[in-house]
Amino acid sequence: MSKSALQLARYRYEPKLPESLRGQLAGAGIEFGPPTESVDNQSELKQLFRHTYGKPVATFVTGSGDETPETKPVTVGVVLSGGQAPGGHNVIAGLFDALRSLNAESRLFGFLKGPGGILDDRAIEITPSFVDEYRNTGGFDMIQSGRTKIETPEQFQKALEVCSARKLDALVVIGGDDSNTNAALLAEYFLDQGTEIQVIGVPKTIDGDLKNESIEVSFGFDTATRTYSELIGNIERDAASARKYWHFIKLMGRSASHIALECALQTRPNVCIISEEVAEQQQTLNSIVDDIVEKVKRRSENGDDFGVVLVPEGLIEFVPEMKQLIRELNALLATNASHFATLHTYEDQSEWVNKRLSRDSSYVFSSLPNEIQRQLLMDRDPHGNVQVSRIETEKLLVEMVGDRLAEMKSRGEFEGKFSALTHFFGYEGRCAFPSNFDADYCYSLGYAACVLINAGLTGYLASVRNLARPADEWQAGGIPLTTMMNMEERHGAMKPVIRKALVELTDAPFRRFAAHREEWALKTSFTYPGAIQYFGPPEVSDAPSMTLRLEHGVTV
Ligand code: FBP
Repeated sequence: MSKSALQLARYRYEPKLPESLRGQLAGAGIEFGPPTESVDNQSELKQLFRHTYGKPVATFVTGSGDETPETKPVTVGVVLSGGQAPGGHNVIAGLFDALRSLNAESRLFGFLKGPGGILDDRAIEITPSFVDEYRNTGGFDMIQSGRTKIETPEQFQKALEVCSARKLDALVVIGGDDSNTNAALLAEYFLDQGTEIQVIGVPKTIDGDLKNESIEVSFGFDTATRTYSELIGNIERDAASARKYWHFIKLMGRSASHIALECALQTRPNVCIISEEVAEQQQTLNSIVDDIVEKVKRRSENGDDFGVVLVPEGLIEFVPEMKQLIRELNALLATNASHFATLHTYEDQSEWVNKRLSRDSSYVFSSLPNEIQRQLLMDRDPHGNVQVSRIETEKLLVEMVGDRLAEMKSRGEFEGKFSALTHFFGYEGRCAFPSNFDADYCYSLGYAACVLINAGLTGYLASVRNLARPADEWQAGGIPLTTMMNMEERHGAMKPVIRKALVELTDAPFRRFAAHREEWALKTSFTYPGAIQYFGPPEVSDAPSMTLRLEHGVTV
């Protein structure tokens, strides 16, 4: 494979580590906090996680360096689970280097194609020359990823058989909320079956929705939002140059609007919808359209028939009438999966569904364009989620805004022009070369996972905190996965899951956006962040996201 100049240069980049993870790892100490509780449903979760519930938060402290205890060699499996996020290769590189620094005989195996690779027992050994090919590069192609969910008793049993047969001491699951829920269940199951195989999670997802006090951000968010912001900035500049198009840009991120909010802070578009605010204000689809129409009209009155609108991927799930419709569709599809599979045409599916929906939802469903109806009926993902990346909300909004403006024009209430283009940015950012922040953070997370394994812990998520500060001051440790869990409905039944962290309307990033959005809507205040810089002054190449800095009171 031929390599770009940047790839070759990135091989030479040495990721920064927090102080507690530098030097003699074997001497690193761990401080434990008090017992923890889950975010909700404590009694149910205590029952379900009899072995792993309530463990303390672990914080690594720099060892004395005098004595370095002997560490026995270990065999560890690692799996990349779910959607790609920049930095995954560096987690594996950090884990590999840390394991080898503790004992050169330790071995690391990568399960191929996600959790399915565990069930099929497909794995490769990670060797020094192999890992070197992937240092500081984007993508998950090193061992690939997949979305298989380990859920049936047979699958749990199979996972145990495979990990035991490979004599694994530990399994590291690099994933988002659903994958780490799986990690928590596996950790509990392994203990329940009397084995000592440890399970450690690593917080991955570009969506930024796997976070709490101890997990300040999931890896990949920084790089993905920088990549999208570069593209949005370029489009803004194009819009300001040509002055003839409104660009509606849907941004990945599933339910949470963290990506849209970060990109808005970086690029200052004319409109950015935040799904969480839509839910709080119980905004209907019509009122969202009204808001956009009003901005298009006011800009047009200033002679600006152009602009940029950011739309979070999961918006549709937060609009009250759509949320109810999706809930009913999910329940119908989950309980009648086999019958639904026999309906081959969209017309048959839509007719079958329409007869079974409540009166209100049937009305909403029928009023949607056929293409959107079709997208709402597509397969759910293995965790029972609607695949929001496949619902073209940006096109739906353009159609509705266009219709409304045309009506207004016919009544003489709008004199401008509305010519719109749509974009969807998601896959473009998931495999970018990790920013310095993500390269450093991921490498540190890999190291942290190794220290948790070395300490004999299981059911923990590797954590690195104080991220708004320089890497030197980062604090590494681990948090029990059960602290992040509650009970939620999945496939029509209540299940233990890690709670998604949505945008908090009272937090600094949203407040900053809300304080400026009126001005950004009417005046053209676009900012152009440009491409990610891997070399150069630290304020350009190393600064963490605006969200992280605002959340932690660092001036931006
Ligand atoms: P994870 O939650 O697995 O990290 O995936 C994130 C994501 O990129 C979402 O933003 C998006 O909705 C989804 O993956 C797309 O899934 P797929 O890669 O299967 O098309």
